[in-house]
Amino acid sequence: MVALKAKGVHPGLAVIIVGDDPASRIYVNNKKKACEYVGFRSEEYALPANTTQEELLALIDTLNQSDIDGILCQLPLPAHLDEKAVINAIRPDKDVDAFHPVNVGKIMIGDYDFLPCTPAGVMELIRESGIDIRGKECVVIGRSNIVGKPMSMLLLHAHGTVTICHSRTVDLAETVRRADIVVAAVGVPELIRGDMIKEGAVVIDVGMNRLSDGRLVGDVAFSEASEKASAITPVPGGVGPMTIAMLMQNR
Ligand code: GUN
Repeated sequence: MVALKAKGVHPGLAVIIVGDDPASRIYVNNKKKACEYVGFRSEEYALPANTTQEELLALIDTLNQSDIDGILCQLPLPAHLDEKAVINAIRPDKDVDAFHPVNVGKIMIGDYDFLPCTPAGVMELIRESGIDIRGKECVVIGRSNIVGKPMSMLLLHAHGTVTICHSRTVDLAETVRRADIVVAAVGVPELIRGDMIKEGAVVIDVGMNRLSDGRLVGDVAFSEASEKASAITPVPGGVGPMTIAMLMQNR
């Protein structure tokens, strides 16, 4: 950042949030705080839940043409808005989420400018922990466009042997038991139990589920799985902070 400042570069991120989803509000606040921390300019566009598609697209069009460097529209959007059209409207070179089809395609061929922040954060965690992915059995649970699919692609680029599990997978437990590296990103509280984890496996929990009693838990039953895993991420405080750090890199 000091080097950027010396060059007169002061990166700016526009964050759009539509409606009042409490989780989205927390994510957006954390992104703004991170911008302040690293010295970026951040602009928040908090739009009411009844914003029309035309109004949202008009804002994106304005930001596409402005001097802002990055544009991020927090998902999910209220049901009446067309998420795909919104993602497609963001200029690919300002798409710091890497959700635009151009950026998704670039990730597919391993020639990318931006990476989606959560999968990028997971890769950084694995790398920084000195874990070698090459040739390892990697099992990703979840096939979302935001996490599961790009996560699988990054593990594949790192020479992992990758399996993607989802709601139709016939024997989840047996598939996960093969894994040297497990990435859970499915949004089902504590779906992955200790008896599904191979002794010594690396377990990364992307899940963030709020229970009716207010507790925040991941997709992995942490205390059970930690008895088997050689390394495991907690929820909260594991992957979440890495996601924000990666967003700051995507400026
Ligand atoms: N909603 C949940 N995760 C994300 C993310 O990484 N980016 C955006 N824009 N919305 C999200």
